[in-house]
Amino acid sequence: MAWKAIGIFDSGVGGLTVLKEVVRALPQEDTIYLGDTARVPYGTKSPETVVRYSRQITRYLLSRDIKVLVVACNTASAVALSALQQEFSIPIVGVIEPGARAAAAVTKSGKVGVIGTTATVASSAYTKAIKRINPEIEVVSRACPLFVPLAEEGWVDNEVARLTAGIYLEDLKKHGVDTLVLGCTHYPILRKVIAEVMGPEVTLVDAAEQTALTVAGILAEQGLLRPKGERGNHHYYVTDIPAGFIRIGNRFLGGDFGDVYQVNLEQ
Ligand code: SIN
Repeated sequence: MAWKAIGIFDSGVGGLTVLKEVVRALPQEDTIYLGDTARVPYGTKSPETVVRYSRQITRYLLSRDIKVLVVACNTASAVALSALQQEFSIPIVGVIEPGARAAAAVTKSGKVGVIGTTATVASSAYTKAIKRINPEIEVVSRACPLFVPLAEEGWVDNEVARLTAGIYLEDLKKHGVDTLVLGCTHYPILRKVIAEVMGPEVTLVDAAEQTALTVAGILAEQGLLRPKGERGNHHYYVTDIPAGFIRIGNRFLGGDFGDVYQVNLEQ
C-alpha cells in the first residue's frame, strides 16, 4: 500500500519549526513541505491575499497526494484556515488552537503575552482562542514584524536581533506576563534572544509540539497512520531560488536536510 504524505506549508523557513516536531512525533511518515519564499512575509499582507496564496498552495500539495495538511504559518492559520477547511475535504490543522491550548495550560498568573505578525495580531485569533479556553486569562499582544526578516536572514543571535527584541518586548515585560506565545512560526528560530530579553521567569510557548500531537491524533482517529518502524522521506519545495532556504534550514534543522526544489504556483 502506498502511504500518502503529510503536507506542511508556511510563508518561508519558519514552518520548519513545526515540521521538526511532526517528524519527531511521527518518524514513520513522509512529509512534503512548501515554503512560499517568493512571497514571504505574509504577516504584512491583507487577509484576501493570504487566503489566495494559501488556496494555491493547498491545491499544489493536494496534487502531490497528501492525507492531511498542516498550516504551519500563524498568519495563514489566523486568516485562511476556515476558508481552507470549508473548501477542501482532507483534514486541515492550523497552529493557533494548539498554541492557545499550550499557553492556557502553562500560565499560572493568568497573564499571557502573544507576539506575532501584524496580520495575526490584528485578527485577534490568539486572544479569542485563549479566551475560549479560559475567559479569565488576560491576553496582551504585540506585533513584531521585523522578527520574520531577521529569521529568514539568519540574524538570530546578534546585536540587531537583541536590540529589536528589547524594543518589541518592553511593554510585555512591564505587563508582567508569565507566559509568552511565539505566535509566528518564524519566532522559535529567535528563541534564544527572546528568552534572554524576557528573563527566566517567563515561559515561552510555541505551537509546534502541540500541533504535531494534534496531527498524530487525527491520523490515528482516521486510521491513516503509517505503521511504526518505517522511516519517512521528506521533500522540500520553495517558490523562489532555494539557496537562502537551504542555508537557514540546514542551520535550523541541523545538518543536511536533503534536496530543495523550486516550484511555480502561479502557472
Ligand atoms: C510571515 O510570513 O509574515 C510569518 C509567518 C507566520 O505568521 O507564522
